[in-house]
Amino acid sequence: MAEQVAQDVDRRRDALVERLFGAVLGMNDLYMVYVGDRLGFYRTLVEIGPATPAGLSAAAGTHERYTREWLEQQAVTGILEVEDLGGNADSRRYHLPDGHEEVLTERDSLNYLAPFARMMVGIVRPVPAVLEAFRSGGGVPYADFDADFCEGQSEMNRSQFVNLLGSEWLPTVPDVHARLRADPPARVADVACGTGWSSLALAAAYPKVRVDGFDLDEYSIELAQRNLAGTDLAGRVSFEVRDAADPVSRKGYDLVTVFEAIHDMSSPVEALREMRGLLADGGSVIVADERVAESFTAPGDEVERLMYGWSVLHCLPVGMSDQPSAATGTAMRPETLREYALAAGFRDVEILSIENDFWRFYRLRP
Ligand SMILES: C[S@@+](CC[C@H](N)C(=O)[O-])C[C@H]1O[C@@H](n2cnc3c(N)ncnc32)[C@H](O)[C@@H]1O
Repeated sequence: MAEQVAQDVDRRRDALVERLFGAVLGMNDLYMVYVGDRLGFYRTLVEIGPATPAGLSAAAGTHERYTREWLEQQAVTGILEVEDLGGNADSRRYHLPDGHEEVLTERDSLNYLAPFARMMVGIVRPVPAVLEAFRSGGGVPYADFDADFCEGQSEMNRSQFVNLLGSEWLPTVPDVHARLRADPPARVADVACGTGWSSLALAAAYPKVRVDGFDLDEYSIELAQRNLAGTDLAGRVSFEVRDAADPVSRKGYDLVTVFEAIHDMSSPVEALREMRGLLADGGSVIVADERVAESFTAPGDEVERLMYGWSVLHCLPVGMSDQPSAATGTAMRPETLREYALAAGFRDVEILSIENDFWRFYRLRP
């Protein structure tokens, strides 16, 4: 019996050793994808094809020796392929195998994951402040996570908005879809719009609508304005720095959307109350937030593990940066949103039948 217990302990210990070692290798992969993405190595390899260290460094404007080290690391870890393996270090040629370029360089693809590396580098920049928040009970403002987190996160969501928002998600809600296509032109408030990709995707999918995007974060709104300037949607889309919990200064929106942001808000009930106040007669609020389990279970699945990781390092500290705080965290369960919505005066919360691995969609009716 004692021997069996000892064997079980050894097995658990060895499994954890193996798991954490695998995680170190995974972190290495992400850091190196970050280097390749930020220095334009992947994009350059797509443009110029198989390249030696000298060829890639000349085209990307980087130092040859560093570039060679990165290329060797990428080949060793299997992200790039190397030709002339037996040749000398300077003459070997490296290329992206078919399939990898989509994941690393194709911004509009749902398989584009390079921004995850930016996000995961950005998320650890203010770690000392997060540790301090653990001790003090304070928070860490969103802006302290810098451009890598903000842009990485927004690029990860962008391809979903571009590919799915107007063609799959909203058509699943027939009366909302019909209203967005009807006259008089519908008005949409995109609350906590971040860098604006959801607002822009909405306006592009529904050529009559007018979308006003709001976000608390100044840098995000600055990027949203820049993203708008690169489109022909000016005149139908606007962006403004605004706290969702501030008293409403306007009304008459047919639809209010909130993508992946309620759980970040320090005052979600107040924010939802104001969103209710924004609505025109017949309007409703659509919230997309994390598709975590209905209730706490441990061990959890990959979505839970992902969300709790973000929660500890980012979402909870951000939500706690403004006190008093609801301190929701990323793993916001459907029951929690329902409680917030009812407290904000909504009559009903419906879970929409929109398929998505990471997000659950709710419709809140006043
Ligand atoms: C995870 S990001 C999502 C951004 C965007 N909706 C998207 O899907 O890419 C959360 C956003 O919520 C914003 N936010 C948090 N609390 C807010 C509040 N009280 N009012 C407005 N925006 C808020 C943050 O500034 C941040 O841009």
